[in-house]
Amino acid sequence: METQLVYGNWIRKKNLLILGLFTLGLGALAIIPLGSLYRLIMALLFLIILISFLFPLYSYVMFSQKGGRFQEKVYTLIIQSLGTTVKGRILDIGSGNGVLAVKLAQQNGEAEVIGTDYWGKDWEYSKIVCEKNAQIGNVEDRVHFQKGDAAALEFANDTFDGAISNLTFHEVQSVADKREVVREALRVVKPGGRFAFVDYFYATKYYGKASGFEEYLQGLKLSQFEYKPLRDMMAIPTLLRHPKIMGKVGIIFGRK
Ligand SMILES: C[S@@+](CC[C@H](N)C(=O)[O-])C[C@H]1O[C@@H](n2cnc3c(N)ncnc32)[C@H](O)[C@@H]1O
Repeated sequence: METQLVYGNWIRKKNLLILGLFTLGLGALAIIPLGSLYRLIMALLFLIILISFLFPLYSYVMFSQKGGRFQEKVYTLIIQSLGTTVKGRILDIGSGNGVLAVKLAQQNGEAEVIGTDYWGKDWEYSKIVCEKNAQIGNVEDRVHFQKGDAAALEFANDTFDGAISNLTFHEVQSVADKREVVREALRVVKPGGRFAFVDYFYATKYYGKASGFEEYLQGLKLSQFEYKPLRDMMAIPTLLRHPKIMGKVGIIFGRK
């Protein structure tokens, strides 16, 4: 029986394994004595693939609980940005393995947390692990999980006292303009309710230019909000600031 929360990792193990095997394979091909040009080309290819393997491997270690515990640090930031005194029902959109939902319930004894996720095959997360995590965290009476689509949440307008989400909105394939997924998340929050969302809010391919996204948020007539790069809110190691890892990640938080 597990006693520690099972985080999972934002870097998929399967992809890491495939890259690792590919790197080993190229390394083996590079030492076959088939002429110096062949070996030079293979050695260059090996170097390129080695770097593309080491970079996600480093990120994996930095994210994990046995390494840099970076995922936990981001969850802490989201919980603090939401405010630990929010009472009532809080929705976690795209809960993955449910660790953020569990930690929120642990730190806020007056919250009931509902975690929703698609739990698609692409990811190494599941509802079963979410439920086990709620038991490990001793909050199974106040944390519940249900399958759902972030693009069309199965809740009426103004249902929740708060909402949180981490690195999920950009994953919603059915909506090209990810700003609409943010709008959908806010739809289910009560007027005056609090929210804290982390995503690639500075990636133009998902949200357009930052200035345009800020105007979009202003157009939603929220009571109050802040929109900031993650690096302004917490320490991020230099390599993790790469645009493909955390460099374009931002946070929006405030009150509807
Ligand atoms: C990068 S993971 C983040 C998971 C979790 N928030 C965390 O911090 O570990 C993205 C999550 O989004 C979920 N997801 C992707 N598309 C979704 C959708 N349309 N509706 C709900 N969840 C979705 C995936 O199943 C996955 O759990």
